[in-house]
Amino acid sequence: MKIGLLVGSLRKNSWNKKLAKEVAELLDVKTYPIDLSEMPFYNQDLDGASPHEEYQRLREDIKKCDGFIFITPEYNRSLAPVLKNAIDIGSRGPEGNLWTGKPATVFSSTIGTMGGVSSNLALRQSFNCVNLISPSNPEVYLAKINELFDKDGRLVEATRPFIKSACDDFVEFAQKFVD
Ligand SMILES: Cc1cc2nc3c(=O)[nH]c(=O)nc-3n(C[C@H](O)[C@H](O)[C@H](O)COP(=O)(O)O)c2cc1C
Repeated sequence: MKIGLLVGSLRKNSWNKKLAKEVAELLDVKTYPIDLSEMPFYNQDLDGASPHEEYQRLREDIKKCDGFIFITPEYNRSLAPVLKNAIDIGSRGPEGNLWTGKPATVFSSTIGTMGGVSSNLALRQSFNCVNLISPSNPEVYLAKINELFDKDGRLVEATRPFIKSACDDFVEFAQKFVD
């Protein structure tokens, strides 16, 4: 099984990027980082007979993965636009909706006190539309993410078991969808 990891922040020193690295280590299955740093906004005019090469790269990445973890901050009480853009691009194009029937979950984290719950749930709303199958468990909303990494840039021991168990729960769920 291969789990694609998509991060909702483009920032070089993003906490969510750091979290994604930890998640990649804690997952007991293969992971595949899906890079969205150069992805243009979805424009149907760029998606005709010969679609934009970045759109097609993303679509190939989606096809390689059996499931997805979206790791995201919250922006103004809603989802990260780069992730919504990726969902839109993956849902259209020559081969149609490539997300359909695949398992996905969201780990949200912010430096504030609510852990990105609004962005997490808003993203799951789009999952519904493209038929990404999202279990109610795990639920990961990490508040004060800036306090959850030690001086070496590693996730603190106190939080590690929680993330490990969320990863394990998601893999157990995703396994049901793999032939
Ligand atoms: C435009 C913008 C809007 C934000 N809105 C929220 C918000 O609604 N809720 C929240 O908890 N944090 C909000 N933040 C703070 C982010 O949680 C914080 O910048 C976080 O570190 C971003 O994630 P990153 O470190 O992975 O880039 C916002 C930040 C920006 C730049």
